[in-house]
Amino acid sequence: MTEKKYINQNIKPLNTRRNEKGNLEISGCDIVELAKKYSTPLYVIDEITLTKMIEDYKKAFSKYEKTNILFASKALMTSAIAKIIDNLGLGFDVVSMGEMHTLLNAKIKLNKSSFNGNNKSKQEIKYAIDNGIDHFSCDNFYELKVLNEIAKEKNKIQKIHLRITPGIECHTHDYIKTGQNDSKFGFDLSRIDEVINLILNEYKNLKLTGLHAHIGSQIFETRVYYDEIGVLLNESKRIKDKFNIELSEINIGGGLGITYTDSDNPPSVYKIADVVIQSIDDNCKKLGLNKPILYVEPGRSLVCTSGVSLYTLGSCKEIEGIRNYIAVDGGMADNPRPSMYQAEYFAEIANAKDNKKSKKVTIAGKFCESGDILIKDIDLNDPKPDDILCIYATGAYCYSMSSNYNNMLKPAMVLINNGKSDIIVKRQTLEQLSQNDIVPDRLK
Ligand SMILES: Cc1ncc(COP(=O)(O)O)c(C=O)c1O
Repeated sequence: MTEKKYINQNIKPLNTRRNEKGNLEISGCDIVELAKKYSTPLYVIDEITLTKMIEDYKKAFSKYEKTNILFASKALMTSAIAKIIDNLGLGFDVVSMGEMHTLLNAKIKLNKSSFNGNNKSKQEIKYAIDNGIDHFSCDNFYELKVLNEIAKEKNKIQKIHLRITPGIECHTHDYIKTGQNDSKFGFDLSRIDEVINLILNEYKNLKLTGLHAHIGSQIFETRVYYDEIGVLLNESKRIKDKFNIELSEINIGGGLGITYTDSDNPPSVYKIADVVIQSIDDNCKKLGLNKPILYVEPGRSLVCTSGVSLYTLGSCKEIEGIRNYIAVDGGMADNPRPSMYQAEYFAEIANAKDNKKSKKVTIAGKFCESGDILIKDIDLNDPKPDDILCIYATGAYCYSMSSNYNNMLKPAMVLINNGKSDIIVKRQTLEQLSQNDIVPDRLK
C-alpha cells in the first residue's frame, strides 16, 4: 500500500506500524494491549490523526477568509470528540436534541452551530433557541411556520438558512443533474419565491441570511462542488434581483470522500478547497455578487480515518470450494455500514504472526442476520480464534449508527495519543441495557 499525501487518501491512521513485538501499533499504542486492557469490540480514535485532519481542513480553506467549518455531528458525537473539535475552533452541524445535549454537556456553546434536519420537533426547536443556536437550516414550509411561531413567542428574530435541493445528484464517482428533485430534504428551487414571500410578509421573526445544500456523501468528484456553488450563487443573485434581499452566506454541506480500501481514490481536502474557492470567485465575478461567508459541514472526512475497530476472532466455518467464514465478537450492531449499503473495509490481524500464510476469509458478525458480514473475501495472515482483528477507517458512522440489536451491549471507545489511552465512552452494561425496560404491574 502506498503512503499518500493527505490523510483522507490513506486507509490507516498516522503512525500505524508493526512494533518490535510484531504487533500492530497506532500512535505508540500496542493494539493487542489495548484489546486486552479494554476488551473487544472496541472503537479506537487516534487524537493525532483526528487533529491533523481538522488542521488540514482549516489550512485548506484558510485561503478563503470567510470560512466557517461545522463538523457534521452525525458522523461521530461524543463529548470528548466534540471537545477536541471545539478546541480547534470548529462549529457543529447538529440534527437532534441529543446532539445539542452532548455539546452542552461538554460545555460547548451552540453559538457556532447550525440546526439541520427535515422534521425538527417543536421541543427541539425550543431547545435550540433557548440554548442559543446560531442558526437553523430550514428544510420545509411546515418548519418555517412552526419556527416563526416559536421565535415570536420568545420575542426573538431567528437567523435561518434555507436548505435547497440543487438538482445535483452524486453517485460517488460521477454525478447527474436531475430535472426533478426527488429528495425528502430541502426546498425545490421552484418553490423559493413562495418561501421568500412568506418570510417578507408573514414570518417576521425569521431573518434569512443564506442558502444551504448538501449533495451527498463519500464524494470523489470535485466538479459537483463547483456546480453546486454555481446553483447556490445563481439563486442568491435571482433572489437579490427579484426581492432586493442580499444573502451573505452559503453552506455547501459535507460529503468529501475518504479511503476505505485501495480502490477508493478521493481528492484531498486541499483540492476540494481550491475548487470551492475557484467556483466562488468565478460565480461572484460573473453574477456581480459580493463574496459570501462560506459554511462547509464535513463529517466523514474529518474523523473517519482516525478511527479503527478492534474485534476478537472466534468461530470459523469453512465451506469447501465456496467460502471460509470467521466470526468476530461484534458486527452489524456496532458497524451497520456493510449490511446497510455494502460498505467495504480493509483489516489486518493485529497480533504478531511469524508466518505470512495468507488466507481468504469472510469476516462475519455474531448477529442473527445472514447479511451481518463485515468484510467479504479479505486476505488475512493465518486468521485463528482469539486473534485480534483491526478494521480501519471506522471513525465515522459506526458508533453513531450503532444499536443494541440482539440486546448486545454497545462497545467502549478509547482515545489514544502518543502511547496514552483514555476511555471516552464506557462499554454499556447489562444494568444500563435494562434501565428503561419496564414490566407493568399487571404482568407481574
Ligand atoms: C446536511 C448534511 N451535512 C453534512 C453531512 C456530512 O456528510 P459527510 O459525512 O459525508 O461529510 C451530511 C451527511 O449526511 C448531511 O446530511
